[in-house]
Amino acid sequence: MTELSRIGVTGLAVMGANLARNIARHGVPVAVHNRTAARTKEFMEAYADEGTFTASESVEDFVASLERPRRIIVMVKAGAPVDGVIEELAPLLDEGDIIIDAGNSHFPDTNRRTKDLAARGLRFMGVGVSGGEEGALNGPSIMPGGDPAAYAEVEEILTSIAAVVDGTPCCVHVGPDGAGHYVKMVHNGIEYADIQLIAEAYDLLTHVASLDAPAIGKIFEEWNTGDLESFLIEITGIVLGKTDERTGRPLVDVIVDQAEQKGTGRWTAIDALDLGVPLTGITEAVFARTLSALRDERKAASTTLAGPNPSNEANRPDLVDDIRQALYASKVVAYAQGFAQMRAASEANGWNLDLGAMATIWRGGCIIRAQFLNRITEAYAEHGNIENLLMVPYFTEAVANAQDAWRRVVVTATEQGVAIPAFASSLSYYDAYRRERGPANLIQGLRDFFGAHTYRRIDAEGAFHTRWSQDGTEVRTDG
Ligand code: 6PG
Repeated sequence: MTELSRIGVTGLAVMGANLARNIARHGVPVAVHNRTAARTKEFMEAYADEGTFTASESVEDFVASLERPRRIIVMVKAGAPVDGVIEELAPLLDEGDIIIDAGNSHFPDTNRRTKDLAARGLRFMGVGVSGGEEGALNGPSIMPGGDPAAYAEVEEILTSIAAVVDGTPCCVHVGPDGAGHYVKMVHNGIEYADIQLIAEAYDLLTHVASLDAPAIGKIFEEWNTGDLESFLIEITGIVLGKTDERTGRPLVDVIVDQAEQKGTGRWTAIDALDLGVPLTGITEAVFARTLSALRDERKAASTTLAGPNPSNEANRPDLVDDIRQALYASKVVAYAQGFAQMRAASEANGWNLDLGAMATIWRGGCIIRAQFLNRITEAYAEHGNIENLLMVPYFTEAVANAQDAWRRVVVTATEQGVAIPAFASSLSYYDAYRRERGPANLIQGLRDFFGAHTYRRIDAEGAFHTRWSQDGTEVRTDG
């Protein structure tokens, strides 16, 4: 009889296939399965010699090929397909077996599945995996959520296949239930903000600094040697430097300017609204993609709506470096907001998230991996439970140093008619956050006028209402 496999992977599209290969390359026997058997066959033809694989055509054989407790990674499209696979697997499993959903599932689904499967004696883990195809194969960042005892059964395998930075694997148990998928969701939200900020910088460098794509690519290459050093800045340099084989033009110039999205950024924004956390950077990034999708409307508006056309007249010698600083400061804001959101979610759900550890496991393997995350890890190590990363001296100073350039960039872009939703909203957030007294007093006055919603006073306890339309007197409404 063939040796039982220590873990199984079902769903052999490229992410699942690469995870299975990564695990097998670390000496762990892996059972593989796919809904359509042809793909399993292709997998075996291509990769059988990379490790010990047991391939099964049926789910029954797949389950039978696993040692107990069975550990099964499900790598299928988020949503109904995950439930479909679970329903096929669950009746074949025994108490204590572990189903691991390693896709980009929405965390409320993970909470639901954890509960449902627990009632059936099965353990369910929602595990965030970041790093795309390459990461899945060579070392992703892994954000496992679920029962700690279940995690203990897979910890060795997961930490062995994760990316490693300074000797530390980019994999740590995040928390119970949907906590792993939650953290992955926020990771993706931050990914959206990072990408949007890069796109805004590219827009300004193109239309105000009048640089072509390869020249901008070189600038990103240079930026990647400083504070901005990160995977996304690095690949921006590569993408901008690529020549289209068909036309000889920069490839980026022939790509349609409509961004797509699979939903994780939108979920992050919706969750921030639910939690009441100001998450302007990520949310603007989601809206910017949505607006980019209105291509026909934009085409019509481009010849109808008045406004300046960006021109090189606003170019100046320090513009490129100003943009770099605006990018950095806005990025700090996006991360500060994302971490504030995770803090709020942790409290709301009783997850006890170790936010410093989240920054640590994002240092390698994942899409937002960056030098900068070391600073966040250090900030949590030094200051503990931080309300807002902007208040940590390192980031306070970094933004203070960048703010003049940041303001100049927002002014230039606005004057030139270049849309910079993420740069501008991050700056507005910064300015609003550092104001002891904002204008919400007037909002309260208005709410009280039209709806008797009451207000509080700066000089007295209690809730008050003014009889605006009657005798104009103020009454206390809370006793
Ligand atoms: C990752 C990525 C990955 C995927 C995004 C893309 O961490 O490896 O975030 O999960 O590339 O889901 O998201 P959009 O299609 O929504 O841009």
